[in-house]
Amino acid sequence: MAILVTGGAGYIGSHTVVELQNAGYDVVVVDNLSNASEESLKRVEKITGKPAAFYKADILDREALEEIFTKEKIETVIHFAGLKAVGESVEKPWEYYNNNITGTLTLVDVMRKHNVKNIIFSSSATVYGTPKQVPVTEDAPKGECTNPYGWTKSMLEQILTDIQKADNEWNVILLRYFNPIGAHKSGSIGENPNGIPNNLMPYITQVAVGKLKELGVFGDDYPTPDGTCIRDYIHVLDLASGHVKALKKIEEKAGLCIYNLGTGIGYSVLDVIHNFEEATGVKVPYSIKPRRAGDIPENYSNAEKAYRELGWKAQYGIKEMCEDSWRWQSKNPEGYGK
Ligand code: NAD
Ligand code: WQD
Repeated sequence: MAILVTGGAGYIGSHTVVELQNAGYDVVVVDNLSNASEESLKRVEKITGKPAAFYKADILDREALEEIFTKEKIETVIHFAGLKAVGESVEKPWEYYNNNITGTLTLVDVMRKHNVKNIIFSSSATVYGTPKQVPVTEDAPKGECTNPYGWTKSMLEQILTDIQKADNEWNVILLRYFNPIGAHKSGSIGENPNGIPNNLMPYITQVAVGKLKELGVFGDDYPTPDGTCIRDYIHVLDLASGHVKALKKIEEKAGLCIYNLGTGIGYSVLDVIHNFEEATGVKVPYSIKPRRAGDIPENYSNAEKAYRELGWKAQYGIKEMCEDSWRWQSKNPEGYGK
């Protein structure tokens, strides 16, 4: 039996494939390569010494999915495939709703036809909107999302919840990631954003490597100790191991479960810059810019539920996250070179 990883050539997916293979699982990847390069999977194979069956296909393509589920013996789906750029989702809401929601509905329909009813879904801390209090626990109410991307995650959580409620043969685990950064220790796989990065860490590493001139810090007048926004950055290797733990939970017939995957520690933008400089010895020139629309002042997790129920806890601290992001960027200034 195999695990189907949708979006497995992408940033979090490729790291999760490594962890799954290291844990002894057979892995099948489906990815349309809209935001990834097949090179990532070649590098995964170098790390683990094991090939993953790869299908270049779109999850909107029902026939392609039918073929995969007919050919492969899939037990569980880990569903990463989706579009994820917040700003782009505001410009192209139809594309985001279609890709993320219709794509997932198609996937889930093909799954149930083949009697595969186990899914681990990549959700996001964005579903909390502006949390009333931090650290945020899973039972905090979901909030108003500030962009269509966030709504796709919030709606997909509801859709998967309702599907599980209607048919309790389904096991659905919703994993709410906080802010994934870092890269594999080998420095051979990592985050490979298209064009100018939107997210903080890839922007920092591209400034550090000399591809961008300086970092803009979006706002220093938030109600936080240094005025910059606070987030819960989590090493992508910890996220990857969280998926392996979630698989074990699925194997125990989980029903419906929701977990935050974060460290429980919040760092400000300036904290991240300073930690990066200390960890790598590389200066990151920056200047303060106006606030970015839609940013919330503070969001970090209470991740105790994942510890209690999955036995999962983040292992890596902010320094290692910075070191590992930098190893990847400095060894691969052009990413996968696509
Ligand atoms: P990513 O873009 O690197 O990976 C997503 C992958 O899905 C890409 O390889 C892309 O080519 C593929 N894909 C997109 N649409 C597809 C489709 N229709 N059919 C087949 N493949 C498709 O992003 P990531 O950072 O690895 O994120 C993985 C998942 O985690 C996403 O669902 C994302 O929304 C979610 N997430 C990410 C973050 C983050 O900050 N990176 C935070 C919370 C949640
Ligand atoms: C972090 C902090 C910025 C870039 C996003 C999505 C969220 C989730 C994770 C998928 C903020 C500041 C950033 C820059 C800056 N993704 N910043 N200069 O916004 O917390 O979360 O990614 O689910 O849905 O919204 O992450 O890395 O963009 O920003 O000052 O050039 O860094 O203002 O305070 P964010 P981020």
